[in-house]
Amino acid sequence: MHRRTLLALAAAGLAATSLAGTTVGAQAQEIFKIGLILPMTGASASTGRQIEAAAKLYMAQNGDTVAGKKVQLIVKDDTGVADVTKRLAQELIVNDKVGAVAGFGLTPLALSVAPLATQAKVPQVVMAAATATITEASPFIVRTSFTLPQATQPMAEWASANGMKKVVTLVTDYGPGIDAEKTFTATFTKAGGTVENMRVPLANPDFSPFLQKVADAKPDALFVFVPSGYGAQFMRQFTERGLDKSGIKLIGTGDVTDDDLLNGMGDAALGVVTSHHYSAVHDSAENKAFVAAFKKAAGFRPNFMGVGGYDGMHVLYEGLKKTNGVGGEALVNAIKGMAWTSVRGPVSIDPQTRDIIQNVYIRKVEKVDGELHNVEFATIPNVKDPVKAAKAN
Ligand code: PHB
Repeated sequence: MHRRTLLALAAAGLAATSLAGTTVGAQAQEIFKIGLILPMTGASASTGRQIEAAAKLYMAQNGDTVAGKKVQLIVKDDTGVADVTKRLAQELIVNDKVGAVAGFGLTPLALSVAPLATQAKVPQVVMAAATATITEASPFIVRTSFTLPQATQPMAEWASANGMKKVVTLVTDYGPGIDAEKTFTATFTKAGGTVENMRVPLANPDFSPFLQKVADAKPDALFVFVPSGYGAQFMRQFTERGLDKSGIKLIGTGDVTDDDLLNGMGDAALGVVTSHHYSAVHDSAENKAFVAAFKKAAGFRPNFMGVGGYDGMHVLYEGLKKTNGVGGEALVNAIKGMAWTSVRGPVSIDPQTRDIIQNVYIRKVEKVDGELHNVEFATIPNVKDPVKAAKAN
């Protein structure tokens, strides 16, 4: 009797333990956590706000279960400071055991995490930062934004083909700005044009002294790169200096006229020509549905950062379907070569570079239904990052 009770108790205990064990084990197995690290405050807060809204929309539309795993999004604010990004990534990887880290609003923030991704074999989905070399910092990086050389080269070709001979470039003085400056200068001078280069600091930029020099130099056009979030201040100073009425054409990559801020820039932005991979008025059924759903869910219109976040979620979801829920290196391999119709147009992940191959559009700021928009008027299809394409040849 005594023995039987003990046995029964032991069996019950065992059952309880194994049950508990299964529950814990299954839970650990069944949750795929994504650590979304973004600047939610500071000068790049619009990037964080866009990507968070887009990632949440993607999950609302596609469900929070993929390949039998429950997807959990953990959003962290790095305030745009690389040391904070790195610390947050470390905590997410070690304590939360995330299956992927994602986001990265600025180049230094993305680069600070690359060694951790490599060491922990955790995929790092770069949804925003756009210096060409970023994907070379870790084999675990996949990028769904763009690269500055990719966006800039078509602009330089357009400027040259449209009769411009002399251009001043004004870029923010760090990775993506330097990429834009170098690509513009190389492409435009090769086509016979002349270029003068100016750089403005990233922290607390004052464009006025540079704009005065531009007014004095009287080029055919001013080519500008400022990171998303800085365009409104640039346009204000451009207008204050009277450059909007100087006959000097304003051109750039689409970062300066990003759709989140553009409508607040006023009519001085009308006619600005830029090259980029996404416009909120991109004419496709997929994009119309996306913009409507995004506005309804978030209360503001999406920009290219939001789309980088939306597509970043897409590669994780579709990759997990392919690997049956397995993460790590298998997940990165599953994402390589993936092709789909994005709201920006047809895209694929270059299996060699893990960068996104996409159309680049030439656009002009116009009023559409009373709002300022980047209206696309030419398409350069399937553009690869030209820096890496040149290296590969
Ligand atoms: C970057 O820091 O890589 C970056 C940020 C904002 C942009 C483009 C590039 O609009």
